[in-house]
Amino acid sequence: MVTLREVLKQAEMEGVAIGHFNVSDLITLKAVFESASDQNVPVIVGVSEGERQLLGVRQIAAMVKSLREQYDFPVFLNADHTHSLASAMEAAKAGFDWIVFDVSTLPLEENIRQTRTAVETLKAIRPEILVEGEIGDIGSGSEIHDAARDLRKGLTTPAEAKQFVEETRIDTLAPAVGNMHGMLKSMVAGSTKKRLDIERIRTIKEQTRVFMTLHGASGTDDGDLRRAIAAGITVVHINTEVRVAWRRGLDSALSTQPNEIVPYKILPQVIDSVKGLVAARLALFSSGRRHARLASEEFFSRNREF
Ligand code: G3H
Ligand code: ZN
Repeated sequence: MVTLREVLKQAEMEGVAIGHFNVSDLITLKAVFESASDQNVPVIVGVSEGERQLLGVRQIAAMVKSLREQYDFPVFLNADHTHSLASAMEAAKAGFDWIVFDVSTLPLEENIRQTRTAVETLKAIRPEILVEGEIGDIGSGSEIHDAARDLRKGLTTPAEAKQFVEETRIDTLAPAVGNMHGMLKSMVAGSTKKRLDIERIRTIKEQTRVFMTLHGASGTDDGDLRRAIAAGITVVHINTEVRVAWRRGLDSALSTQPNEIVPYKILPQVIDSVKGLVAARLALFSSGRRHARLASEEFFSRNREF
């Protein structure tokens, strides 16, 4: 089976990005997996510390492993936004492929010190594991926010990124390049979009030559996402859009079947809703193919009313 590092290398060479989608339940996992296998593209499943607490660290690892093995399909598992070494070690021991070690709220020197220790410790547990470090401020919370943050002060500089990558020896870097976690109501409605600093992405990539992840991608302008991938982004993280699709699917299932109590008659609508979102995003990330662009645009024009 291909490794995550090989998948990222291949994506980088082809100028495409791998989709990373957060899950909180088996329904969303199924939707993400089915969308990726429909398009035959590798996919990364992400679980934050909160999502892991709900699902169980070893339990989500076992579920993803079972999908990978039964279908011989490149589906990988990431311990997203892990704020302590103990929690990162637990995920590495459970067999996760990737750890986002996030102590980005600390001053740079302390962030470097802790991230370097995490890289050494996690690779001693599982040599093939990838470790991501994060610098800059992209906020927290894959939720619907009332007010926009001022992102300008927390942007990652190319010089800091170079120092951070060289001194920590991370495999992937999460920079702050105009992205932010979560969506404003206007973004859910489709009337505003996040915009990215494409030149900053290009320069950071030139300076670091490391794989780069775009966090907080929900609600980002499609053209900016395409340009960001062309400029050096290799993985794109989506969570809030998944949660919106999950909620919309559930609302619709409950309102169209008010007396239904059988979960396996209610939940397929949730799977379909999440699958539609994931399919649209994967199509956008994986290539400039015309039918892929149409799938994405059609999905978002249909779903503006939430
Ligand atoms: O790590 C998760 C992502 O960065 C999600 O960000 O909720 O804005 O899509 P998002
Ligand atoms: Zn994130």
